[in-house]
Amino acid sequence: MKIKSELSKIIEQALKSANIQADEIVISDATKPEFGDYQFNGIMRLAKELKRNPREIASEVVEHIDTTGMVSKVEVAGPGFINIWLNNEWLAEVTTEILEDKRVGVGFVEEPKRVVVDYSGPNMAKQMHVGHLRSTIIGDTLATLLEFLGDEVIRQNHIGDWGTQFGMLIAYLEEQNTDGNTQELKDLEQFYKDAKVRFDQSEAFANKAREYVVKIQSGDEHCLELWQSFINASLGHCEEVYEKLGVNLTRDDVRAESFYNDQLPQIIERLKEKNISTTSNGAECVFLEGDENPIIVQKSDGGFLYATTDLAALYFRANVLQAKRICYVVDARQAQHFKQVFTIAKMAGLVGEDVSLEHIGFGTMMDKGGKPFKTRDGGVIKLVDLLDEAVVRAKDAIKDRDVHSDEELDAVAKAIGIGAVKYADLSISRESNYIFNWDKMLSFEGNTSLYMQYAYARIQSILRKHNAEVSGEIIIGDEIEHRLAVMLLKFEDTLIKASIEATPHTITSYLYDLVTLFMKFYELNPILKEDIKEDIKMSRLQLSILTGAVIKKGLEILGIEVVEKI
Ligand code: ARG
Repeated sequence: MKIKSELSKIIEQALKSANIQADEIVISDATKPEFGDYQFNGIMRLAKELKRNPREIASEVVEHIDTTGMVSKVEVAGPGFINIWLNNEWLAEVTTEILEDKRVGVGFVEEPKRVVVDYSGPNMAKQMHVGHLRSTIIGDTLATLLEFLGDEVIRQNHIGDWGTQFGMLIAYLEEQNTDGNTQELKDLEQFYKDAKVRFDQSEAFANKAREYVVKIQSGDEHCLELWQSFINASLGHCEEVYEKLGVNLTRDDVRAESFYNDQLPQIIERLKEKNISTTSNGAECVFLEGDENPIIVQKSDGGFLYATTDLAALYFRANVLQAKRICYVVDARQAQHFKQVFTIAKMAGLVGEDVSLEHIGFGTMMDKGGKPFKTRDGGVIKLVDLLDEAVVRAKDAIKDRDVHSDEELDAVAKAIGIGAVKYADLSISRESNYIFNWDKMLSFEGNTSLYMQYAYARIQSILRKHNAEVSGEIIIGDEIEHRLAVMLLKFEDTLIKASIEATPHTITSYLYDLVTLFMKFYELNPILKEDIKEDIKMSRLQLSILTGAVIKKGLEILGIEVVEKI
C-alpha cells in the first residue's frame, strides 16, 4: 500500500478546499505514537511564503481533511504540524484484503525502467576478497528489490579479466603444464604468489610473460586458449561463492572487461573529436575542471586503462542495453573514478542526459580491532572459508534448541549462517565501514537475521499449535494492533524508499521495527488461550500470518531464507 502518496492526495485536497496553493506534499512517519501514525510538516514553509501564522493555516487545513475513510483523526501540533491517525476499520479492511495477496499488498512502480546493476566484479587474477563480498551481497539485493517492484533489471558482472598480470599467469600455467582444472589453480592466491616468485627470479620467464601479454592482445591462439582456461578456472571459484551465498549471478551476466577491448579505440576517437581529451607526453588525457590530476584514457604505449573500459561499458549499457538507470555497486574508494567517468561520458554524449548514473558506494569491512579484514598472517581471507565457517558457527548457535533432526540441521544452519553474513552486511548504512563480528551477527537478540528468522519460526509454531484452519477478518482491537497493522502496510513505502536510495538497511530497519512490535503484540495479546473469543482469536492469528508473510518477503528480497522451526 502506497500510504504516503494516498495521504498526500488527501492533504492536497484539503489545501485546495482551503484555497491554499502548494506544490509538493511530503508525508513523514510520526516520530512517536502520541503524534499519530503520520505527520505533515509542510505548513511552516507555506506559512512563510504566505506571510501568515502557521498554526492558523494548519487549523484551516485540518477542518477540510476528510476523516470518513482512511484517516480517522487529525490534529494540529507544535508550531504547525499536522498529526494524522489512520482509521481502524480501514486498516482492518485493507490488511484482511492483502492476506490473500502473494505480494503482501506491495504494488509496482508507476514507471518501470530498464536498470543495469553492476555488481560483484571480481578480478580473475586473484581470489575474490571481502570487498567483492559486500558488492555481491548489496548488489544482489538491489537487483532483486528493483525486479520485485517491476523494473526490468539487467545484471552485469564486470569481471577484471584483462591486464598485464595475465601474461605472467598464463606463462606460469603453461610451465606447470596444467589444463586449468588441476590442483595448482585450487588456490589462486598461492598460484599468483608462485608465478610472481618465478617472475622475479627468472629473467627468461619474465621475458616470456611480457611476450605473452602482447600475444594475448594481438589474438595469438595458443595464448588466448591458455588465458581462457585460466579465466574459466577462476570464474569457477567465484561461482562456488555465489552458489554458497545463494546469489543470482550466472555466466550470462558476465560481461568482462575484455568484452569492450575492440570498442576502446572508438571511445578515444570520440573524446578527441569532441575536444574532450588532449595528448600530453604521448598519453591521451582528460582534464576535468576542479580535478588536479588528468584522467589518462590511453597510455603513451597505446595501452588503455580501467577508466577507458568503463567509458565503453557506459556507452554499451546506455545505447545497446538501453538502460535508463545504471547502478554501480562498488567500493566507496572508487568514488572519484566513477565521478570522473560519469562526467566524461555525459560530456562526450556516450550516455544520454536522461540516463541516471549512480555509484552505490560501500565502506570497508573491518575486523573487531577496526583494521581491514585479513587473516592472522595478513593474507586475504578466502570467501569460501568464511562462508563455511558461518555455517559451522550457526550450527553451534542452535545446537541446544533441539528442534531439528540431523537432516534438517544442515539446511537450517546454512539458512542461518549465510543469512547472518548477509544481514550483517546489509543492515548497516552502506557507506559506513563495517565491523565483522561473528558473535553479534549470530545473536538471537538485536537487529540480526536470526532475530527475524526466529520470529518467523515462532509464528509458524503458533500456527502448528493451533492446528486448524484460520479464517475470518482482521479486527483492530487496541493500540498495539493498530500500530502493527500500520507497520504491516508500511512495507511498500519502505521498499520504494530503499529502491530509490539504494539502501538495503532501510529494509532491515523496517523488519527490526516490525518484529519488535510483533513480539510486543504477542506478549500483550494472547492468541491461543482458551478464554479468547473465536473472532478475536482468528483476527490475531491472521495478523500473525500477515506478519510472517511480510517477514518472509522482506528476507527474500535480502536473499535470506526463512526456516519453519528454530
Ligand atoms: N574489478 C573491480 C574491482 O575489483 C570492480 C569492477 C566494478 N565495476 C566497474 N564497472 N568498474 O575493483
